[in-house]
Amino acid sequence: MALALSSAPTFCHRVLALRSGHARRGIGQVAIDSRSSRKRSAPIVAAVQIGGVTLTREEVVRQDDPTNNVPDSVFSKIGLQLHRRPDHPLGILKNEIYSFFDEKFPAGLFRKFDDLSPVVSVKSNFDDVLVPPDHISRSYNDTYYVDGNTVLRCHTSAHQAQMLRDGLTHFLVTGDVYRRDAIDATHYPVFHQMEGFRVFSESEWKDTGLDGTDLAVKDLKETLEGLAKRLFGNVEMRWIDTYFPFTNPSFELEIFFKEKWLEVLGCGVTEQEILKSNGQSGKVAWAFGLGLERLAMVLFDIPDIRLFWTSDPRFTAQFKAGQLGTKFKPFSKYPPCYKDISFWITDAFTENNLCELVRDVAGDIAEEVSLIDQFTNKKGISSHCYRITYRSMERSLTDEEVNAIQDKVREEVAKQLQVTLR
Ligand code: PHE
Repeated sequence: MALALSSAPTFCHRVLALRSGHARRGIGQVAIDSRSSRKRSAPIVAAVQIGGVTLTREEVVRQDDPTNNVPDSVFSKIGLQLHRRPDHPLGILKNEIYSFFDEKFPAGLFRKFDDLSPVVSVKSNFDDVLVPPDHISRSYNDTYYVDGNTVLRCHTSAHQAQMLRDGLTHFLVTGDVYRRDAIDATHYPVFHQMEGFRVFSESEWKDTGLDGTDLAVKDLKETLEGLAKRLFGNVEMRWIDTYFPFTNPSFELEIFFKEKWLEVLGCGVTEQEILKSNGQSGKVAWAFGLGLERLAMVLFDIPDIRLFWTSDPRFTAQFKAGQLGTKFKPFSKYPPCYKDISFWITDAFTENNLCELVRDVAGDIAEEVSLIDQFTNKKGISSHCYRITYRSMERSLTDEEVNAIQDKVREEVAKQLQVTLR
């Protein structure tokens, strides 16, 4: 499913690599290891660095552990930290939001973190923020598990509880987050979020005539409306009630942009239980989470989420640190190439597994995977037909190349997904 944690299917904004076969070395990546892998054709990165810590491939892509579902293509993204590059759209956006907080509030009041490891415990990703035991976002189909107790964070809320235990009351946490999902122009298994958190003490609402929750809601809405104005100018906005496991009440903010209502963030008043369990009894707090790609695609006119990961200078050279207004000028439109694949499925089949396999075999030339036909025969067996769109952002693809990739996709689908090709 598209959005693991909120009921709205669009929030994630999610929201993308080094093309497989192009073993480029990124920031934070220590070395490329050329051994072949269990997990297909992605370039193999031996180790990555985050916040001064080295994570080795053996620790994250665990061939020995059946609960592990992290492919090399995903491991290779850890440590790239696009949001820490000041002249990358995600870095420009992050810094603009930082400036907003440092101007609206006393500078430095909100502590900023953007270098926390995405490898976190199941406890901090889910339990500590009250995600119910049977919540869909915990499934192996939706989340990358390193082992039974460890995941790649699927949201920056994974750091809330620890921050509170460390005594922090005002903070912004930015980072790469990981979700198994569909393949299209706005979905990529790795994207970036920013979490904001503010704790109020009783002395702050005592003289206002409001109770703690009302004060938090008022301050939250005022802050986020101010942020949306800073980013989007004088746009129409509306608040939608929603559900998150960690906040109550919970809201989404939508803005009217280019003739459409666009969801820009999720937020709410933090559940008391989270504050109590983490040393902040008697306090009230608000939290928000926003998807950076979602916002950046709109603000910079970036049409495809894969572009964030390209090192093609025709993309990267268009952006400058501190320049939020730049509109991306597409440098090319290479032709797409469509390939259909049909097979009989079993109950074990999921679209997320198919998409991950396609991403692993094809790398970033996989632009979209969509179900175009399905039926069930008299024996009750279902057939699915998917159309895979191949298109490079950087060059024209040759027929031979796409055919070879599609053959490999077919072979791996038959081998790994327990389906029967038609
Ligand atoms: N963690 C939520 C998500 O990823 C966003 C959120 C953060 C919502 C904080 C409310 C409060 O969907």
